[in-house]
Amino acid sequence: MKQNIYDNNTFFEKYKELRAREHNYNNLLEQPNFFTLIPTLQNKVVLDIGCGMGDFAAYCVTQGAKHVTGFDISSNMIANAKKRHIHEGLTFERSAFEDVTVSEGTIDFVSSSLAFHYIADYQLLIKKISKALCEEGVLLFSIEHPIVTANKGKESWITNEEGNLLHFAVDNYQYEGLRTQNWIVDNVIMYHRTMSTILNTLIENGLQIEKVIEPIPAKEAVCNLPSLDKEFRRPSFVIIRAKKIVNK
Ligand SMILES: C[S@@+](CC[C@H](N)C(=O)[O-])C[C@H]1O[C@@H](n2cnc3c(N)ncnc32)[C@H](O)[C@@H]1O
Repeated sequence: MKQNIYDNNTFFEKYKELRAREHNYNNLLEQPNFFTLIPTLQNKVVLDIGCGMGDFAAYCVTQGAKHVTGFDISSNMIANAKKRHIHEGLTFERSAFEDVTVSEGTIDFVSSSLAFHYIADYQLLIKKISKALCEEGVLLFSIEHPIVTANKGKESWITNEEGNLLHFAVDNYQYEGLRTQNWIVDNVIMYHRTMSTILNTLIENGLQIEKVIEPIPAKEAVCNLPSLDKEFRRPSFVIIRAKKIVNK
């Protein structure tokens, strides 16, 4: 099932507010780690899946990429991306990535920040990406960490009577599939898969894992956003870089 939650205007307005804050989880935790794994962009053909408001796609062009296409299922996102970023060699398309056709071996770099957990068929997604990548092409993506997506809608942080955090509870980890969460609005759909599925699917599709990061915040980040302290108890995200290997 494809849910286009970013075209729910209540959700979208609140999401924009969150992203506009200087001190948020993206700016202080996910993005700084994601950026450490970006390959050389000079003259590269890039796809950004779930490109949102287009900032990363535009960044790739400014770093010398030959052509960057950002895909997103949400017309709100694509309208904002087109408004915010106009560059030669930069294209935005409103489409679910599942519905996009990409020619074989034509892409140097596929990026995706915090979008794959919205896509139901991970096997098919990775197969398509692997086919699209040229030899030595790179896939870099971040997702919500599987220990966070595992729980089926229950509150995962267990607190005492005073409201202090006792521990984080992980349940239903081995039951993969759809989860509904209350994040900004009710019934936001995401898909949980285990870490072994996430990694083995890459390996089975000819993608060699180069680096895995479970980000921990810098000291300064925790000063600016104290809730990031919880990241030392359990990670919110995982970031993976893999390279297409062609067996000859
Ligand atoms: C958390 S936002 C991240 C946006 C952007 N990558 C960023 O980091 O700012 C996730 C994005 O994935 C998009 N998305 C969800 N399902 C999708 C799908 N099936 N195909 C393409 N984009 C999708 C959403 O519309 C949303 O823009």
